[in-house]
Amino acid sequence: MKYSIDINLTDASKVSEVDFNNIPFGKVFSDHMFMADYEDGEWKNFEIVPFQPLNLYPSAIVLHYAQTIFEGMKVMKNPAGEPVLFRPEMHSQRLNRSARRMAMPELPEDLFLQALTELISIDHNWIPNTPDSALYVRPFMIANDQFIGVRPSETYKFIIFTAPVGAYYSKPVKLWATDKYVRAIEGGTGFAKAGGNYAASLLPQREAQAQGFDQVMWLDGIEHKYIHECGTMNLFFVIDGVVVTPSLDAGTVLAGITRNSFIHLLKARGYEVQERPITIDELVEATKTGKVQDVFGAGTAAVVAPVESVHYKGVTYEFPEMEGRKISKQLKIDLNEVRSGQSEDTFGWTHPLNVLVEG
Ligand SMILES: Cc1ncc(COP(=O)(O)O)c(C=O)c1O
Repeated sequence: MKYSIDINLTDASKVSEVDFNNIPFGKVFSDHMFMADYEDGEWKNFEIVPFQPLNLYPSAIVLHYAQTIFEGMKVMKNPAGEPVLFRPEMHSQRLNRSARRMAMPELPEDLFLQALTELISIDHNWIPNTPDSALYVRPFMIANDQFIGVRPSETYKFIIFTAPVGAYYSKPVKLWATDKYVRAIEGGTGFAKAGGNYAASLLPQREAQAQGFDQVMWLDGIEHKYIHECGTMNLFFVIDGVVVTPSLDAGTVLAGITRNSFIHLLKARGYEVQERPITIDELVEATKTGKVQDVFGAGTAAVVAPVESVHYKGVTYEFPEMEGRKISKQLKIDLNEVRSGQSEDTFGWTHPLNVLVEG
């Protein structure tokens, strides 16, 4: 279905003020945003307007009970200069899984794709040309009823805005595996990209950093031994030539689009990939016996973040030197080449947008 989106363009574009070679992360926003309202059981009022503050009442449900979900994706330019969307339908499907868990309305996938396409087409000159830079896209939904009782809202806003971001090279990260804090438990909201999950991670993250680590390695909430994920990344371990990543079955791990892409890329290169529960004890044992070849985080922001060490029960376990980490280095190259349209997309993951390309 084709939706009718009202377009009201800014007459004061800020794009010429941006130094695209030096973009501060997450602080510069493009000229326009897409907005939609959910009222009387349907999505309506589709518009693209200049990026601006929201008109919200202090009594809006989202501000009290965190009925809010979001997505995060990157758009790059291919060698022909066209913007390329990477697996947008997976982001739409994950948004709707998050929506169901948070008792929010789903957003039709075709509306998500049309809104994204029109917004990116309008602000395509905000996509940086510099290598590995991208336009970060942030779709999100908030509960908008004015009501201070605890119940699902009946009205919502869905918004997409975008922000140019520079190349993101992750330095090797040091993880802290702890049983002091828990991110997700079966039956909880771990699989949803819900605002509250991130609010709850802030204090543990601060504590990790105060002790000299970069991020928490989240363990399961019952036995505190199964590895879930870290920060905003899924985790991969290469043990004895086999690639292992925690399974998603329990609903306690966010289903990363990078994670899914890596599994496909690895299998295409002939690697054995196991999606299964993995305990911190197995990782420690494999590290002690020299069987661990690579440990890395996978997520849209960094693509790959090499993990240098994990600290668990008073002992720091070091993983192999960066030089030997062939698998994660190759994955980073493979994924970046596909999502920026530099290599042939045999998976059908990319959607180049045929917009008028300037200069
Ligand atoms: C908790 C969490 N895990 C994993 C990821 C990685 O997901 P993706 O590869 O879709 O960016 C993210 C980022 O969205 C995240 O917030």
